Amino acid sequence: MSLSPSIPPAGWRGEGLDFGGHRLVVTGASSGLGAALALALGQAGAEVVLSGRHLPRLEGIYDRIIAAGGPEPMLAPLDLERATADDYQAFAEAIAASGPALFGLVHCAAHLGALMGLPRYEPLQWARVHQVNLHAAFLLTQSLLPMLLQSPRATVIFTSDSVARESRSFWGAYAVSKAAVDGLAGLLAADLQGYPGFHCHALDPAPRPTRLRSQAYPAETATALGPLDEAVAAYLYLLTRGADERLPVRQQAATSGSLRPLTGTALAD
Ligand SMILES: NC(=O)c1ccc[n+]([C@@H]2O[C@H](COP(=O)([O-])OP(=O)(O)OC[C@H]3O[C@@H](n4cnc5c(N)ncnc54)[C@H](OP(=O)(O)O)[C@@H]3O)[C@@H](O)[C@H]2O)c1
Repeated sequence: MSLSPSIPPAGWRGEGLDFGGHRLVVTGASSGLGAALALALGQAGAEVVLSGRHLPRLEGIYDRIIAAGGPEPMLAPLDLERATADDYQAFAEAIAASGPALFGLVHCAAHLGALMGLPRYEPLQWARVHQVNLHAAFLLTQSLLPMLLQSPRATVIFTSDSVARESRSFWGAYAVSKAAVDGLAGLLAADLQGYPGFHCHALDPAPRPTRLRSQAYPAETATALGPLDEAVAAYLYLLTRGADERLPVRQQAATSGSLRPLTGTALAD
């Protein structure tokens, strides 16, 4: 694997990276940021495990990676709202069957839930949002950790959001779950600091034109937002740090594929 530059030049979008021989799992790979990242990884030679809920959409990403000349991806559908402990075990076993080590796990799946104040927030919706955004991210990470720790260099990236830090009205369970995800990333990094090749981050990709964003802001024009490939470059940058190059756990995608470290509220940095 070739490392990304230590300081990304302006406009860097992952050029020159080679993930040949490395396997990575991407959740939410059927849409938006997860799909764009999976495609970029496949184009750079990674063997991508495409996870999502909607098989036809995942198959579309599979076809695009093959058409771009990438290695054959693995389709791994999993509904994170309904998955049981047995499902996570079967998921891990299916991945282990094609090799012992994993180079990366990137959590892009998310459920927005309702945008409304806490006094009226519906308890079932609260539980669904936390199940997909927080509990599933924890359970999937735990089930894949043995394979990640088999790799001399491995990275887990959780996807955060600025609403995790800003207490913005009406963001409800989504904001609370993303604040917890920030804490989860900090704790995992702290718990595994004895593994020098293991890196863990919570990345805020900044506003991007995706389905989730348009659910939250239906009247917004996509062109007002930063491009998807700018956020994808931030994920690629974190995935290609050297084993001994430590960056703060929480990061925000900025322009030019670079990152802004965030400090303040997470459990560890
Ligand atoms: N876009 C932004 O402005 C923005 C800003 C900050 C953070 N984020 C974060 O970025 C990440 C990617 O979101 P996005 O903006 O790219 O949105 P998106 O296009 O709506 O993608 C969301 C993904 O999550 C998957 N998903 C939802 N519920 C699921 C479930 N129960 N089981 C399995 N997969 C499920 C969706 O799968 P289906 O195709 O099956 O629905 C889809 O692939 C999220 O973590 C989001 O919180 C986005």
